[in-house]
Amino acid sequence: FGQEYHYCGTVTSTQDVARKLAESGAPHGTVVLAEKQSQGRGRRGRVWSTPTGSGLYFTIILRPQLSLSELSLLPLMAGVAVREACGVGYLKWPNDLLTEKGKMAGLLLEADVRGEEVHHVLLGIGINVVPEGLPEGAVGLGSYIKKVSRVEVLSRILFQLETWTGMTEMAVLQAWRKYSGTLGRQVRVQTAKGPIEGLAVDVDARGLWIEHEGVRTCITAGDVSLVEP
Ligand code: BTN
Repeated sequence: FGQEYHYCGTVTSTQDVARKLAESGAPHGTVVLAEKQSQGRGRRGRVWSTPTGSGLYFTIILRPQLSLSELSLLPLMAGVAVREACGVGYLKWPNDLLTEKGKMAGLLLEADVRGEEVHHVLLGIGINVVPEGLPEGAVGLGSYIKKVSRVEVLSRILFQLETWTGMTEMAVLQAWRKYSGTLGRQVRVQTAKGPIEGLAVDVDARGLWIEHEGVRTCITAGDVSLVEP
């Protein structure tokens, strides 16, 4: 990963730049990194604000040899790789990296699927590094690691992604469960069909499994929050 590397000053979103590159044939593992994004975006249409110099904002173009049904493991795999690279925090389904002080990293996957084939995936990663000047509820990696270097964090993430893309589904799920801050907790999930509450019992490539009054439901997309006892 990172053989082809694009370093940008200000862009709308690294996802936009990466999409154009992917459409014009950029290879698997191409990295697009920006200092600042004027329209950085998060999951579910949210804004990802990126104060200059505070973090790492980049997109990796993946051209995985995957079928449509295998695509669902990628978000979990990417979360595990980022957790391993940062060395702190826990994962909130599907792939946010949090610590007890707040959100440290967010991941956004946008897939271009043509028929049954995955043409490319844009894996966008935003990591808060410098602890100062962050929005409410966010925390920087620099709060945990002294003298943190953005280049080093980037290279660790690329290395972990290369490692984890070669792992089996079982290994990815085991690691995700180990780093999970969601499983075993009472959660509320906002889904397109409305909120669902229950005990988060497991995660697999199909989604997050929630148990309520003896019935298990699989959540494939949504926003999870913990319900305090
Ligand atoms: C989320 O937490 O909802 C996902 C946040 C993803 C942010 C990154 S920063 C680099 C890439 N470009 C974007 O516009 N978003 C992702």
